[in-house]
Amino acid sequence: MADPAQLNVGVLISGSGSNLQALIDRMEDGSVPARIALVISNQPNAFGLERARRAGIPACVIHHRDFADRESFEQAMIIALEEAGVELVCLAGFMRVLTPCFIRAFHGRLLNIHPALLPAFPGLHVQQRAIEAGVRFSGATVHFVTEEVDAGPIVAQAVVPILENDTSETLAARILKQEHRIYPLAVALYAQKRLRIEGQRVRILNPTENPAACLIAPNPPAA
Ligand code: GAR
Repeated sequence: MADPAQLNVGVLISGSGSNLQALIDRMEDGSVPARIALVISNQPNAFGLERARRAGIPACVIHHRDFADRESFEQAMIIALEEAGVELVCLAGFMRVLTPCFIRAFHGRLLNIHPALLPAFPGLHVQQRAIEAGVRFSGATVHFVTEEVDAGPIVAQAVVPILENDTSETLAARILKQEHRIYPLAVALYAQKRLRIEGQRVRILNPTENPAACLIAPNPPAA
């Protein structure tokens, strides 16, 4: 029986859905006080649909190719999300750029996860671009979605070192593990009403912080 006090989340996917799985797992174990009311995939063969089915979560395909233009595709998603009573929408590997029509419908209620430390490396192929740029760290970012792609207020980030022999695949896998930690964390903070957007900044209410924390890559030699 659905708990009416819990936040209703909608998740948009295009592929494997491992971030969807992380959200499902942390909701099931009670660490995220929310429930997924609907999963939408724009790809009929996305494995994430199977993950939703196994978890008993309503899921549907809204295939962008079935629509004449972006606006009518997005309108179909908006209607499905509203009918499911969705309050927060999470993009989880959703590989379509959204127009202002969708973004305005869920203003302040739309999160995305991106496999880099924004504002560095927005866009696509970001693991390969980070390696080629020679940066020592990359990572993952959860942010509110605004009309500029990958540029909205940042909720949570995880830092991942880039190792000497990394390929885009090994780096992507290391980043993905951290995505599975920070996306549930961000949704939990949202569900607890602990996020306040102030311009480009997201304030976390009642934070726990370690002022001495820092990261160095490569690790300094042992003394
Ligand atoms: C994740 O790495 C996510 O950050 C990325 O796609 C992957 C989806 O994995 N998203 C983007 O690149 C969005 N521009 P998943 O389907 O296993 O969650």
